[in-house]
Amino acid sequence: MRTCIFYLLVLLLVTSCAPGGESDRMEDLLEKMTIEEKVGQLIQYTGRWEMTGPAPGNDYAQTGLQKIESGELGSMLNVTGALATRNAQELALNSRLGIPMIFGYDVIHGYRTMFPMPLAEAATWEPGLARLTSRVAAIEAAAAGLHWTFAPMVDIARDARWGRIVEGSGEDPFLGSLFAAERVKGFQGEDLSANNTIAACAKHFAAYGFVEGGRDYNTVDVSEHTLQNIIFPPFKACVDAGVATFMNAFNVIGGVPSTGNSAMVKGLLKGSWGFEGFVVSDWNSVGEMIEHGVAADQKEAAQLAIEAGCDMDMEGYCYENHLKELIESGEVAEALLDEAVLRILRVKEDLGLFDDPYKYCDKEREKELLLHPDHLALAREVGKRSLVLLKNNEALLPLRKSGQKIALIGELAAEKDSPLGNWRAQAIANSAVSVLEGVKAKAEDSQVFFEKGPRYVSSETGFLTPLEINTTDPRGIKEAVAAARRADVAVLVLGENCFQSAEARSVTDISLKGFQKELLDKVLEVNENVVLVLMNGRPLDISEFIDRIPAVLVAWHPGSESGNAIADVLFGDYNPSGRLPLSWPRSVGQLPLYYNAKNTGRPTDERNLVNTSRYIDLSNDPLFPFGFGLSYTSFEYSDLQVSEPGLGAGESIEIRATITNTGEVFGEEVVQLYVRDVAASVSRPVRELKGFRKIGLEPGSSDEVTFTLKPDDLFYFGADRQWGIDPGTIQVWIGPNAMEGLESSFEIQ
Ligand code: BGC
Repeated sequence: MRTCIFYLLVLLLVTSCAPGGESDRMEDLLEKMTIEEKVGQLIQYTGRWEMTGPAPGNDYAQTGLQKIESGELGSMLNVTGALATRNAQELALNSRLGIPMIFGYDVIHGYRTMFPMPLAEAATWEPGLARLTSRVAAIEAAAAGLHWTFAPMVDIARDARWGRIVEGSGEDPFLGSLFAAERVKGFQGEDLSANNTIAACAKHFAAYGFVEGGRDYNTVDVSEHTLQNIIFPPFKACVDAGVATFMNAFNVIGGVPSTGNSAMVKGLLKGSWGFEGFVVSDWNSVGEMIEHGVAADQKEAAQLAIEAGCDMDMEGYCYENHLKELIESGEVAEALLDEAVLRILRVKEDLGLFDDPYKYCDKEREKELLLHPDHLALAREVGKRSLVLLKNNEALLPLRKSGQKIALIGELAAEKDSPLGNWRAQAIANSAVSVLEGVKAKAEDSQVFFEKGPRYVSSETGFLTPLEINTTDPRGIKEAVAAARRADVAVLVLGENCFQSAEARSVTDISLKGFQKELLDKVLEVNENVVLVLMNGRPLDISEFIDRIPAVLVAWHPGSESGNAIADVLFGDYNPSGRLPLSWPRSVGQLPLYYNAKNTGRPTDERNLVNTSRYIDLSNDPLFPFGFGLSYTSFEYSDLQVSEPGLGAGESIEIRATITNTGEVFGEEVVQLYVRDVAASVSRPVRELKGFRKIGLEPGSSDEVTFTLKPDDLFYFGADRQWGIDPGTIQVWIGPNAMEGLESSFEIQ
């Protein structure tokens, strides 16, 4: 790991990524451009038919090449590899003005080396790690000719039914903003024109994580209050971190599609926040304004989008087919087109494409850097740090390396593909280290016997598709139960394959699919020492089993080094330090579920009175709260102190507590600071995360952790539609998760 960290530190030592460099050169270029060439800069084609939405209109193979040659295609997505990007770039440079193209791609959690899915990475509660993994993803992608990633996704999400919850950092704006900023800095480095940095893209602006019922692409209806206080902060954090681009969301908010939302994109993003980069639509989100019912046809959609500040049309063909006509008829001012073109050209300029358009496509570098051992070492390090231990009765974990009979059960345990996660860019299929491989490599004198259990994927096709979960073939349960019977401990790897979460993977049932429940039930009948390892892209409903399973480890889809990272934790070579970046529901019926909720006028409590805000058939509480996670050691919190009784303008206050490792091994604890503004101009959350620190403690040792708050750390968007705070009481907690902790208070003066 030491070489890996050294290598990464060197990579981090490179220098201002804010878009908007020398503009005169670009203005001169703009002067020379025909209207067709200008419109061309605003168009993005996909390079192949692997796509995430229906591709209307043209086939790149037929018209794309001609368009590039005539200087009428400014960008492509899904063209990857040093060779392919060089070939396409050559065509663009041979066009009349030789304006280089910008190649974008979904480099979400790695390019060839896969890191944990973003939600899993957020479970490390170490945003600095996200900077490192994004840095490496950029290094690999840039060597393979790419200039731009459609990441980070910074949508706050509260509903585990929504498949894309796995692509973000969970439910909290504070945690989410830190991860968002670090990812931007990681992708873009300190110098966007370096040959190993790529432009980032904050997506999806905005509120896509709030689709009704968790159904992808569905309607969103949220208040300005929620937009400002919960949804926007991670986007703002990206702007502050110098993000080069933004992507529109598919959804409407209050009936207005984000792609046509002038107040949000022009007014807020490009206006108040001063964002200087460019905005790309999502895949055909310009054209989808027809389906949304706000544009009669492509022409009207194009007009709405350009007037709302959408600079580039991804696979929508509306700009291509209608912008010229709209400008020539005077329906759209040419100044709008010019502004969009300039924004795009400036990002290209900041990337250094006008100086050396080929510096990103370097076959040698590509060969040398993809899957570099240091990248894999980082994947293992971040992988193990992303695992969350939810339960560990009677220290069933860690497993023993000798003298233990371990039954490893479940098709996912031997799987080498799913652990790579969804949105796996150019990962090689079936290239992850499986849990079986990882466990076997570590179990020195312990015996490991593997049983697949019932088929998890379709026995007909053998493919991991989201819908073909085999529910008809229980063969394999018998063998699995027999293996569990003769073992000291049964480790079951269950959950979701990677194509069951992410885009277009919404579900109404978040429990274990197929025959997995039956398998678990039957194994528990013969061996009570069960360790459940979940592979998952969302919290899964395990309530039915939780009292009977002594140990649960959430592994998510941790990437290329999955099996090694999981084995590191299972055998105690790494003491788990991950914490949930979202509330873990008891049932799908609790969704949307989030810790930073409002109190309501009739809050419920342990008395469970009838006319209070609760369900009559289930507790309001999550099964595991936001911030929760166990360790192989234990920690005690004591001596909470608040430095001053009050906090006035221009002042700061310190809140501190002592944390002691009361167990027997070294461990890391995520110490969390929460606040509540008891009486404000609008109802404030019952708790809000305002700080956290991961600390390592030797057994028996203690550390004092201090957080400093200033008034503006507590600002909220209030009834007067301004950010601020009024005098009154602030409750504070320092604790291990959103439902526990030592409590005190101070006054805002
Ligand atoms: C997704 C985006 C993605 C784009 C390009 C869309 O369907 O919503 O997140 O970046 O496709 O692949």
